[in-house]
Amino acid sequence: MESQSATSRESELLAVAESQQVLIEPDAFQELVALENAEGLLNQAASVIKGRGQYVVSHVLVADLVASLQTQKKALPVTVEASTRFDAPAKRMEARIRIFKDREVTNKSRCTGTLDDFVAHFNNRFTQMKGILRGRRTEYTFVETIQKAAAFTAKEKIRVVGMVYQKKTTKNGHVLIELEDDTHAMPCLVSANSPLFAEAQGLLEDEVVALDGFLSKELFIVDRIVWPDVPIREKKRGDNDVAIGFLSDLHVGSKYFLQNEFYKLLEFLNGKGTTEEQEVAGKIKYLFIAGDLVDGIGVYPTQENQLVTKDIYEQYRQFVALIKQIPEHIHVIIGPGNHDAVRTAEPQPQLFDEFAMDLLDQSNVHLVGNPAWFEVEGFKVLMYHGTSLDSLISSLNAKDGYNHPEKMGIELLKRRHLAPTYGDKPLVPEHQDYMVVSDAPDIFHFGHVHKNGYADYRGTFVINAGTWQDTTDFQKRIGHQPTPCRFPVYFLKTGSLQVLHFGGFAP
Ligand SMILES: [Fe+2]
Ligand SMILES: [Fe+2]
Repeated sequence: MESQSATSRESELLAVAESQQVLIEPDAFQELVALENAEGLLNQAASVIKGRGQYVVSHVLVADLVASLQTQKKALPVTVEASTRFDAPAKRMEARIRIFKDREVTNKSRCTGTLDDFVAHFNNRFTQMKGILRGRRTEYTFVETIQKAAAFTAKEKIRVVGMVYQKKTTKNGHVLIELEDDTHAMPCLVSANSPLFAEAQGLLEDEVVALDGFLSKELFIVDRIVWPDVPIREKKRGDNDVAIGFLSDLHVGSKYFLQNEFYKLLEFLNGKGTTEEQEVAGKIKYLFIAGDLVDGIGVYPTQENQLVTKDIYEQYRQFVALIKQIPEHIHVIIGPGNHDAVRTAEPQPQLFDEFAMDLLDQSNVHLVGNPAWFEVEGFKVLMYHGTSLDSLISSLNAKDGYNHPEKMGIELLKRRHLAPTYGDKPLVPEHQDYMVVSDAPDIFHFGHVHKNGYADYRGTFVINAGTWQDTTDFQKRIGHQPTPCRFPVYFLKTGSLQVLHFGGFAP
């Protein structure tokens, strides 16, 4: 009897493998046959390896999944019950939401890092940026390529568009910029006593700008630097009295994740607050989460000591359990960050199915890549984790960059690019440069630096949503003071912001 049931299980498993179009290593197969929930586990394993672009289910993976299931059984779920007296007006409203999947990398990465990929990537970046800059008015003559600039005389004022190949300071203290396009390169000079001097020092390698000026022999003398920037617009107001809540950098699984404070947030969202709090919670129709959902595994050396949950599946299971307690009338848009279990290099695809687990069945949960573009209530939103901020802060030598991330967000908007200098942080040279800020967003939401910050900039609401992780040992050592458990809520009708505090930690 036993051998018969094993045989029928074997054929069932082979049928699953065939329908999933995966192969199973002999050891893994033996292990699966002996398991009660073999089919479910094989489906899970298939989903994991497909996410990695592989097709063989290994013994190691099966062992990992079994271990993960055992840990899951041990964890105690904490549930937040909705207040029965809470009648959220947002519940009666239809969600107005559009996600622009064509503007993110999810399911579209074809890049293998060849020279052709790099050429295509930079050409695409340059074409997109030039398109933005071409629309800017000027009294100077717009010259189509750098090569054509050579035909102009010193008396003619011209505008050229190029990528900053190099920027250096000469021994006389002038700034010398090597500007290039796909036709030619040209040395451009900002003299040490020019009013443009400070501005020129803020130029970053690989960014695309327009320079106004004139030729003097072999040198282009710069009169003005024109950044692509977002146009000045009226700040958008919504038709409906609804609000967006912003989150980022939960770091579930870290010993510093502030779980109790996060439960307080969940209780608040479920209407378990004062009358005033209920009034705010009742308006929240959307919740955006800008990455670092979990702390991850092996993100940096010795991270192991900072984790309470050392299993990546278990970290996501806990994250999913938290998100499932957000009332279902609130639409949650979730993107990854550098701690999440997708590729570290940007642009990042959305979270793989095996980590999103039960969230995949929830119609109010939307997974997006990093960066991502979407629209709620007609507001164009750009959500980006913010990994490039570390290199931006150091390149600009912006000493208050970590304390005022909104200022760094503005720098990115001004450059119309989320990672202006190539290669400071891992980037993938996709043939389309998804890091270009191709449109002017009404809301630009990011995280990563664990510090709340807000600004209105030329009609864009710029927001860093801080963190739900307490100050780590590393942050203490470098003197960085995060602002955990501050929950910003933005009211679309009035354009006003309210920040709720769910913990009294940082100043
Ligand atoms: Fe983070
Ligand atoms: Fe991060």
